[in-house]
Amino acid sequence: MRRKIVAGNWKMNKNLQESVALAGEIKSALAGCPLCGVEVVVAPVFTNLYAVAQELKGTPVAVAAQNIYPKPSGAYTGEVSAPIAKSAGASKVILGHSERRQYFGETDEFLAEKVDAVLAENMEVIFCIGEVLAQRESGEHFQVVEQQIKNALFHLPASAWSRIVLAYEPVWAIGTGLTATPEQAEEMHAHIRKVVEDKYGKQVAEDLTILYGGSCNAKNAATLFAQPDVDGGLIGGASLKAEDFKTIIAARA
Ligand code: 13P
Repeated sequence: MRRKIVAGNWKMNKNLQESVALAGEIKSALAGCPLCGVEVVVAPVFTNLYAVAQELKGTPVAVAAQNIYPKPSGAYTGEVSAPIAKSAGASKVILGHSERRQYFGETDEFLAEKVDAVLAENMEVIFCIGEVLAQRESGEHFQVVEQQIKNALFHLPASAWSRIVLAYEPVWAIGTGLTATPEQAEEMHAHIRKVVEDKYGKQVAEDLTILYGGSCNAKNAATLFAQPDVDGGLIGGASLKAEDFKTIIAARA
């Protein structure tokens, strides 16, 4: 089944105390507020994941890691594995974010390994794809996104897709205030669904949840979510304020 999801990617923001406080504010903001079938996710920094998960225990808000290393354990100084993130309270992992691709050189091939590592733990993947501005301007954006999906995800069996959520995040829209128009988001989401359909068939494509991310905020969320192929949002800056995050969740309900 296609799902409605609003996820907050906190990126490298909020220390331990601030993270717990924000989780508490989100908990209060959502208390007694019908979520109307919207799944809410927050992704804090690794060191704060356990405390945030504890704060949100007993609420429907899920906790995601922002990354993992694809080995389960071993001599990989400074890294965190999927089973270790899971033991701290993460049920999902964001992978392929453009900031990881850009600043940490993550390739599609490396991301394919990470996807396998997350699925091996029965966790969910929120997989990010998106073109940079030059690629959109040269008309390559459909091709770029298609290739990212094929390279990192098309080795999976159809059954694995029930634990994959895609997030279309045009890089030029992230943190810039330049949101994709609802039409730009819709045409890319429809294209993504078609790419998945061509490989896995109509049912997998129809059931796939595709989020939009990139300067999605309390003001523009409703028009983006009104598009038939935009199933929810992956929110950066606006997820750091509980009231804005609540407004975005309500826009999806
Ligand atoms: P902003 O909402 O701050 O543009 O960030 C989007 C994003 O990168 C979410 O992963």
